[in-house]
Amino acid sequence: MKISIIGTGYVGLSTGVGLAKRGNRVICFDIARDVVEKINRKEPIFYEPLISEMLTDVVSKGLLKATMDLDFAVINSDVSFLSVPTPSKIDGSIDTSYIRGASVSLGKALKKKGYHVVVVKSTVLPETTENIVLPALEKFSGKKCGKDFGLCVNPEFLREGSALSDFLKPDRIIIGEFDKKSGDVLESLYKGFNCPIIRTSIKTAEMIKYASNAFLATKISFSNEMGNLCKRMGIDAYEVMRGVGLDKRISPHFLNAGIGFGGSCFPKDLNAIISKARNLGETPIIIESVMKTNYNQPLRIIELLKSKMDLKGKKISVLGLAFKADTDDIREAPSIKIIGKLIEEGAIVSAYDPKAIKRFREKYPQINYTKNPRECLKDSDACLILTDWEEFKNLNERDFNTMRNRIIIEGRKVLNPKNVSKFEGVCW
Ligand code: UDX
Ligand code: UDX
Repeated sequence: MKISIIGTGYVGLSTGVGLAKRGNRVICFDIARDVVEKINRKEPIFYEPLISEMLTDVVSKGLLKATMDLDFAVINSDVSFLSVPTPSKIDGSIDTSYIRGASVSLGKALKKKGYHVVVVKSTVLPETTENIVLPALEKFSGKKCGKDFGLCVNPEFLREGSALSDFLKPDRIIIGEFDKKSGDVLESLYKGFNCPIIRTSIKTAEMIKYASNAFLATKISFSNEMGNLCKRMGIDAYEVMRGVGLDKRISPHFLNAGIGFGGSCFPKDLNAIISKARNLGETPIIIESVMKTNYNQPLRIIELLKSKMDLKGKKISVLGLAFKADTDDIREAPSIKIIGKLIEEGAIVSAYDPKAIKRFREKYPQINYTKNPRECLKDSDACLILTDWEEFKNLNERDFNTMRNRIIIEGRKVLNPKNVSKFEGVCW
């Protein structure tokens, strides 16, 4: 099938590359010139496992190209995925201006086109597609939804760090359809995927995404609450949650306690659904508590550190800046809050991350960055580990021996006790 992707950030590019890998012809549209030029040069604009090799493969085979010409992208495709950002506004609700703007442009392009299916991939609150995307498409194309063009919502469940494998091996595919014809077109694109395909109404699909993320985030905050209790009693939260997660009704995934969830989705999506609930006159007690626990969780590592030393003038080494392993994304990363607090307490911060230094330095030029963990650890008074990078699993006694003072606290469970002695975790 011929596909266009409108907005080729993390989600758009991973989706485009995944679809091209399955033999579809993909045209990526983006408003940012450097994004388009880089994709055509086979250079991903972010770090993500597999993307570099797969992008090179599909661009070389002529299956994927990028353009700044939206009309070209739409005219030369049958289905357009909208994957522009939906960031949070100050009050937590979503900023729909990009989705609105992209729908207007797409509507104008549809004018010149026969039947075409528009698929909303961006995470949008229930009713956004019907109240914002659909009217803009109809108004600016002069066409009728369901007759002249189709409309679907197809939420993504891609985790950064495993986006392409999540795309190629999904647990399920959700198709929210305006009408049967639109859903049939999208389902045919996913032919051959070995997973259940659920067809729903448009707003049900929009809600499935929020309910999924809210539930996953709830599991994490629950584990953190248990973990904070465990820490007080000298119990390892990981041993507890292993015992809990083996119950089939619970499942072992997303029970890892630590410094809380970050990233571009969970915080934004939970705030958005809270704001929607409040507008509807509901009080979403569980989700609000999940956010509250998560707000405080990064600071637990600072409290633990402060219980051991006064931070003023001390050199603290921070290993890991990305919000999780295998990404260079720092959006809502717990490291931001933790480093901010260290600076506020008068500490001198040295940081290392295998992939995220460039992005972090752009925002926080005032701290020291090192080329490797050893340089970071040298002469430090304490070390905080904030991301579960594979590289940190191999750190050993020799790496930590250069510290001035031996205090090591993990915010994510990553060190191997066989290689390193004398360290503790925030919840273990
Ligand atoms: C996506 C989804 O769109 C968001 O709704 C979801 O909740 C998380 O994932 P993401 O892929 O992370 O967002 O966004 P980002 O990496 O910022 O990429 C967005 C791209 O869209 C950028 O390359 C940007 O240049 C482009 N863009 C933005 C457009 O092409 N048009 C616009 O109007 C705005
Ligand atoms: C998430 C959803 O998982 C994905 O389905 C959705 O489409 C986009 O948002 P992402 O944010 O990329 O994906 O990564 P994820 O693996 O979910 O991790 C989010 C945050 O939760 C990270 O900071 C991670 O470290 C944290 N986390 C995850 C925990 O603290 N404990 C866990 O057990 C799992």
